[in-house]
Amino acid sequence: MRRLIAGTGWKLNNTVAETRRYAAAISSWATGKALSNIDIFVLPPFTSLHAAHAAFAGVPVAIGGQNMHWQDAGAWTGEISAPMLVEAGCRYVELAHSERLQFFGETYACVRLKVDKALAAGLTPIICLGELQKEKAAGRADTVLQEQLLTSLTGQASARIPDVVLAYEPRWAIGSAEAASPEYIAARHGALREILRKYYGAEVAEETRIIYGGSVTPKNGKAILEIIDVDGLFVGRAAWKPEGFIRIIDLVR
Ligand code: G3P
Repeated sequence: MRRLIAGTGWKLNNTVAETRRYAAAISSWATGKALSNIDIFVLPPFTSLHAAHAAFAGVPVAIGGQNMHWQDAGAWTGEISAPMLVEAGCRYVELAHSERLQFFGETYACVRLKVDKALAAGLTPIICLGELQKEKAAGRADTVLQEQLLTSLTGQASARIPDVVLAYEPRWAIGSAEAASPEYIAARHGALREILRKYYGAEVAEETRIIYGGSVTPKNGKAILEIIDVDGLFVGRAAWKPEGFIRIIDLVR
């Protein structure tokens, strides 16, 4: 049985003071709630990681970085390494988010190196996968997903694959007015699970979690969660305020 996930990426939002307020609201809501059957993560900006780690102490909310470098140290101006994330209290790291690919030149060849480093450091990589609108229109979505997935996981032993979280985030649905339809999400998640089965075996396919992100809201989240191959929700805008994330966690738990 795969544990469900409720996660949010804050992107370029929340100062240290705002992080403390957010965590205080979640912590006071979470007290006494049954949350042990799901995994919850929050991905603050780097400068808020230490504060978030301290502020979420005592509630089952893990934190993660929104990116990292594939080297531990060196002349890489502006970068953050896996050991630094671990030191800040991170359990997760997000890789290959659409905005990293679009605006910062991230490639899946680099993502592969980062996955390796993250796993070695004991971090859970959240690997974003998703097709562009034009790839969707050309009927290439599943081909693109396969390329991204296999490139990201090149060199990993099958036994390590369930240690990653796959996030299907159609790039056209991120930050847009509407999520992908449940039918469309079911087809892509099904395709991803099939790719896992084909290349890594039935057990890995069964164990590896695939979450959905892209314009998820408390309104559309329930129907998305009912899809058999969806193992959780990965939310941006709708969870940037604690009230929003609480509604998402409530759907998942
Ligand atoms: O990582 C989740 C994010 O990319 C989705 O953003 O605002 O469309 O929920 P949003």
